[in-house]
Amino acid sequence: MTANDLYARDEAAIGNLQKLRFFPSALTGGAGTRVIDQSGRSLLDLSAAWGAAGLGYGHPALVEAVARAVANPAGASVLSSANLPAVELAESLLATVPEIEGAKVWLGHSGSDANEAMFRAVTAATGRSRILAFAGAYHGGTAASMAISGHSVQTHAARHAGLTLIPYPAESRPFMGDATGGRVLELVEHLLKTTCPGEQVAALFIEPIQSDGGMIVPPPGFLKELTALCRRYGILIVSDEVKVGLARTGKLHAYAHDDFVPDIVCFGKGLGGGLPLAAAVAPARILDFASSFAMQTLHGNPVSAAAGLAVLDTIKRDRLADNAATVGSYFLDGLERLHQHHRTIREVRGRGLAIGIELDPDRTRRYAAKTVYRAFELGLVLYYVGLESNVLELTPPLVLTKPDVDEALQILDRSLADVEAGVVSDQTIAPFTGW
Ligand SMILES: Cc1ncc(COP(=O)(O)O)c(C=O)c1O
Repeated sequence: MTANDLYARDEAAIGNLQKLRFFPSALTGGAGTRVIDQSGRSLLDLSAAWGAAGLGYGHPALVEAVARAVANPAGASVLSSANLPAVELAESLLATVPEIEGAKVWLGHSGSDANEAMFRAVTAATGRSRILAFAGAYHGGTAASMAISGHSVQTHAARHAGLTLIPYPAESRPFMGDATGGRVLELVEHLLKTTCPGEQVAALFIEPIQSDGGMIVPPPGFLKELTALCRRYGILIVSDEVKVGLARTGKLHAYAHDDFVPDIVCFGKGLGGGLPLAAAVAPARILDFASSFAMQTLHGNPVSAAAGLAVLDTIKRDRLADNAATVGSYFLDGLERLHQHHRTIREVRGRGLAIGIELDPDRTRRYAAKTVYRAFELGLVLYYVGLESNVLELTPPLVLTKPDVDEALQILDRSLADVEAGVVSDQTIAPFTGW
């Protein structure tokens, strides 16, 4: 096979609707923190397939669990019969959130369908039609998850008629001159008393770090105060932990950094370790309010559920939250050093192994697009996010090591320097639109 065969066949056979391409990557396998491309090159994956491969690639616990489940499958879903992996996964998830009283679990395929199911369930079960979410939020790519999102890549999507988007504050992005989030709280307080009556709002959807919006870490205390304000109106708090949950931030749940307790937690991506799996933990009064309301044929699939159980067990057994905290802070320190001598870096931020490197947003120079392209040429996989397409997103496997970080820093350093020196042309990146 010549170097471009697989990519060319992909271009010819698979449509663009679901593609988000940054460079001509064609993979044939993976092991640990690396993916293997069609030319046999081993690349260090700082994305982990957008966070899905949380245990890395080919983790023995996952291989064993999936092989066992697929060899003797207990049906194919939870719709019309119980199966042990699905029940055990639900029980394990419930054990991770003892603070949500009387909770049950909904099982799905992806973060999008988890958020969609919860949006539909909370509005139907409470009889309240309004939703609060953040400008810049990405809660999914299905119609109803897009309807409650606020990301610029989805400006084509129909928003829910009762959606109110509020600004996501950050220390680097003061809202009306205020970096603490205080002015956003004042705005929400005003909205809930006036045009978005609090008693009509079913839920507030939160990303504890706004990921696709630019890896934005909220100011200290902001989410705690916001959730307390919403609770005064009986508004349910949904923590969308799809990308940054399950140990990535250095704690099992990302919301734990902000000292609030959600009513509903949505999981996806890393939960399946690379297989299609999502879950939502929510009060029984929401999840029991109707039957056959939010179901797809393969929801609660025993093979996917077995993968989820292996992921949860491995996170606990191998203390991967601690690893994310330690290796993540080592990574952040190294990136701060790069920040000192790269003029294109604006800010480095993150928690654990959820890290953003904000670059100069100049639309014509497209520094982020060029940096990820150059990094790919040099052996690193990472992508960019952000409403201005200028934030390098790092969500590597949770098993990342310090030597991996040293290698990544070296390649990033050189990639940034090469881009600053004009090594990557506009023409080279023209076929890759990213987002
Ligand atoms: C916070 C968040 N929620 C939900 C989703 C949707 O997940 P999926 O694309 O796996 O359906 C994403 C995807 O990036 C996400 O980042």
